[in-house]
Amino acid sequence: MKIFIDSADIDEIKEAYKGGIIDGITTNPSLIKKAVDRRPGLNMKEYIEQILLIANGTPVSLEVIGNAYEDIVKEGKILFNMFNPIAGNVIVKVPVNPAITDVPSYDGIAAIKYLTKTGIPINATLVFTPEQALLAAKAGAVFVSPFAGRIDDFIREENKLAYDKTDYYPSDGWDSSNLKLDDNGVVSGIDLVSQCVEIFREHELPSEVLAASLRNPRQVREAALVGADIATLPFSVIKSLLYHFKTKEGMQNFIKDIVPEYTALFKGKVLEI
Ligand code: E4P
Repeated sequence: MKIFIDSADIDEIKEAYKGGIIDGITTNPSLIKKAVDRRPGLNMKEYIEQILLIANGTPVSLEVIGNAYEDIVKEGKILFNMFNPIAGNVIVKVPVNPAITDVPSYDGIAAIKYLTKTGIPINATLVFTPEQALLAAKAGAVFVSPFAGRIDDFIREENKLAYDKTDYYPSDGWDSSNLKLDDNGVVSGIDLVSQCVEIFREHELPSEVLAASLRNPRQVREAALVGADIATLPFSVIKSLLYHFKTKEGMQNFIKDIVPEYTALFKGKVLEI
């Protein structure tokens, strides 16, 4: 499973890429807002150009802001034409259903289909049902992004369960019979990811499932186990994938046991690193 960093913070993106295991970047308008809040007045064009270069050939998703077909297509082309020449790694992120009312809009799907035809790779975002994923894949999106964490939030809220954003929610749902267990047949965020994976496999759809809105290491493990192609994670979650108390304890003990005879091996050597 590929790991993307879900961030528009250039400092953490740089730090994350130093580890050598990051396969891409996802941004969205809220992440861009956070970056601007940190650096008011920043030159957005230059800032994004730097991010594209740091990504070193790995894909970077940049999101459109409009919700009408013409606007999505226009913005998708602007983002792609403005930024893809920098490093050839721009993916345009388009909401699967850009409506802000309960009446679904077909404009996202139509824009995905059209932009894909013009050669612009699309990440279909804000996917909350396997059916949305199916339509996005049929329209040709290269990445389809089910929002696992936000589905868990929704199910917990419906069931009036207290939770923190990063709390683990069981992949097979909550086990109390007094609760409304699911969101129309989706019992958890990871279940949503798993259903998307299954549909794409069953119907041989080439789109990759990009598990988004993952907020803790166990969710990442489960996304990998159900066959997600990609997981996009905040840097805090990427780092927390490395943590285990016994690893820390083992480290502390090894350090305590280092003898001078062993330390001497490393002393006085000047090497190019
Ligand atoms: C995905 O592309 C989104 O940027 C993201 O994963 C949303 O995560 P959140 O629900 O934690 O905000």
